[in-house]
Formats: sequence, C-alpha cells, structure tokens
Amino acid sequence: MLEIDVLTLFPEMITGPLSQSIMGRAAESGIISVRAHQLRDWTHDKYRRADDYLCGGGQGMLMKCEPIFEAIEELRRENTRVILMTPQGRVFRQPVAEELAAPCKEGGDAHYIILCGHYEGVDYRVIETLVDMELSIGDYILTNGAIAAVVVIDAVARLLPGALGDARSSVEESFSDGLLEAPAYTKPNVFRGMEVPAVFLSGNHKAMAEWKLEKSLERTKTNRPDLYEAWAAAHPEHFAPKKKRRKTPLTTYKNRKTPVDGEPS
Ligand SMILES: C[S@@+](CC[C@H](N)C(=O)[O-])C[C@H]1O[C@@H](n2cnc3c(N)ncnc32)[C@H](O)[C@@H]1O
Repeated sequence: MLEIDVLTLFPEMITGPLSQSIMGRAAESGIISVRAHQLRDWTHDKYRRADDYLCGGGQGMLMKCEPIFEAIEELRRENTRVILMTPQGRVFRQPVAEELAAPCKEGGDAHYIILCGHYEGVDYRVIETLVDMELSIGDYILTNGAIAAVVVIDAVARLLPGALGDARSSVEESFSDGLLEAPAYTKPNVFRGMEVPAVFLSGNHKAMAEWKLEKSLERTKTNRPDLYEAWAAAHPEHFAPKKKRRKTPLTTYKNRKTPVDGEPS
C-alpha cells in the first residue's frame, strides 16, 4: 500500500480533491491512504503560529522549524521518505512519478511524508536535516505547497495496480514512451462534417499503430520539441531511409508533366 502523510496549513486542499473520482475509489479500495495533517497541531503557543519573521530582515514570513521537526519526528518510520514541495526542487516528471510508485508496484509498501510550504517557504534547517527529496511541479510560484502535493499524489497513485480500471491506460499515454499521445476519437464517426480518420475504421491494427506513431511524433515535434529531439536521438532507425525495390521505372519520371520536388522541370 502507498501511505502518505501530508503536513500542511490547509488540509482541506488535500482531502477535497483526493476524495473525488479515481483517487477517491483508490482510497476506498485500500490502494492508497492519504492523511492530511494540520501542521498547527504541533505548535504550542496560544496563537498556534507556524511561521515567523525572516532572520536578518526581508519581506514575508517563513515556516518555523519547531512544529515541522516535531510533526516529522512523530510520523516518520524506518523507511519513510520526506518530500518537500518547493519551486526550487527537482522537477516532477513522469519518471519521478514512476520512481515514487515503484516500491508499491509489486505488492510492496511505501510511506512518504509530504511537507507543504507556505509564505516564503520553510526554514533551511528543515531542508538540511529532514528532507530526502525536494520536488517542484514546474517553473512557476504557487501560493502554497498543498496544490503541488495533490498533483504529485494523483500522478503517483494512478500508477499503482488497480487504481485505474484498465491497466493499459497508464501504459499507452503521453510520456510513457517519451512521446505525447496520438490524437484519439470516439463516436460519432462524423461530427459536424469532421470525420474520424479512416484508419480507425479499417480494423487494420498494424496500420493504426503506424498512424498513431506518426501522429505522436507530429504532436510531440510541435508541442514539445525537447521531447522530440530526445526521442529522435534514441531512435535513429525510425528515420533511416526504408529500403524498397523501385517499382516505377525511371523513364516514367522523365515523361512526367508536373515537376517532382527537387527535380528539374
Ligand atoms: C510562495 S511559495 C515560496 C517560494 C519561495 N520564496 C521561493 O522563491 O522559492 C510558497 C510555497 O508554495 C509551494 N510551491 C510554490 N510553487 C511551487 C512549485 N512550483 N512546485 C512545488 N511547490 C511549490 C512551496 O511549498 C513553497 O514553500
């Protein structure tokens, strides 16, 4: 089972989204267990303060060491990994989701504590002493880490066996093979004059697979040239000229009226 304890000033931002749809069902069926804790429960003053002014001055407030240390020390077990959500962290991509899901994929267990920052972030002594992994969900700044934690939990939990109805759903999708997913269609076959590509109605699975790969490449090249470059470098054979026997004799080209690209007219 995947167990996650989330430390946040906004537990409802965790429990709300994760109680819905596939995540809600995964929790009900015991595939994941997410507990959202109010970090202020580990404070001791009457105002339940979890933040304080920056040492040396400067704008904003920082989350204090004391409640975070106490909370993590109470929740941590032998194999727990502590993850801090921060824009300064390693960028969370599909391989990181795979890495976090891996211990549970063959019936094993994993326990993560996810610490969500707020204000200007957390006192650096927390990062130095308690945090195993810093994760960012992208190069932008959110108001707090709970939103980012939900993104991470959702992406990891859906990889677990049984979380999605159809196991192939998490295999044949964007990023699983380094490319974006090919366009997909459902009924009706014609909608407002727009037709589902004929290959899908052909029943020819090889042709469909080839079509999908070409469309995946097209979409990836347009939307994510970085991924396209990486895929192309890893699959030079895809771009190698196909060796085919020439069916058309050269004389046919010489008699052509319309010029062919690259040929003198
Ligand atoms: C306003 S941000 C603090 C940003 C911090 N002062 C900095 O410049 O790195 C408050 C909190 O939101 C969360 N957060 C903001 N952007 C994030 C991102 N891109 N990925 C993960 N967490 C983020 C972190 O938990 C962070 O501590």
